[in-house]
Amino acid sequence: MHIPSSGVFITFEGGEGSGKSLQSRLLCDKLRASFPKLPVVLSREPGGSEGAERIRQLLTTGAQDRWLPFSEFLLFYAARYDHWIRLLLPVLQKGGIVLCDRFLDSSWVYQGFSRGLPFEFFDVMHTMMSKVASDRSFWPDRTYILDIDPTVGLQRSNMRQSKDSQKEDRFERIHLNFHEKVRLGYQKLAALHPGRCRLLEADRPVAAVYEEIWNDFVAFLQGSNVER
Ligand code: TYD
Repeated sequence: MHIPSSGVFITFEGGEGSGKSLQSRLLCDKLRASFPKLPVVLSREPGGSEGAERIRQLLTTGAQDRWLPFSEFLLFYAARYDHWIRLLLPVLQKGGIVLCDRFLDSSWVYQGFSRGLPFEFFDVMHTMMSKVASDRSFWPDRTYILDIDPTVGLQRSNMRQSKDSQKEDRFERIHLNFHEKVRLGYQKLAALHPGRCRLLEADRPVAAVYEEIWNDFVAFLQGSNVER
């Protein structure tokens, strides 16, 4: 297996409790073992850099109407820009591998498709970020979308949250209709980007989902189904 000199950028997306954090950790462990000489970084959004983690607290805690939808959108992108420039881009510039638990597709789905902000906002933001951000496209090379019925996902995620002391549940507490829309949004996203996105049935044993991700990733590296 060969990693291109421009590095590889993989993102994990999906609704609450879809298991993306676990799957990204499994893939990260495997890649660290397979490429011991390369930097392999696993990060998350919102967050990942010091400033972005502070913004994360503002976004994931407190009342649901704490932010107007457009303010929320700007905060996610403020965090993303910091994270991209300070942490992710330098790894890719060294030819390393970046795995990220959520990235810009989460904004398109949550703030666009579900909250209803116009999709042009995202195009404008991505054009602006490309101009000021870097020489490398910040579009992921591969995106694994874990698809799950939100009733099942929210149950899983509530069990996890109840063990945490500081509740980051501002989004989980939104009504079920919103999460059903999130699921539809991800399905639409996968249909819009068939070359980059893989939609995976997530309500299965962890090992079965992981096997599908690993097989796809190997095929991706071999270039058999690459479309950038
Ligand atoms: P996270 O803690 O990753 O969610 P999860 O519990 O599913 O792992 O992210 C917190 C919330 O932020 C999540 O509900 C989705 C939301 N979010 C957006 O609305 N827009 C975004 O751009 C991102 C990155 C996250």
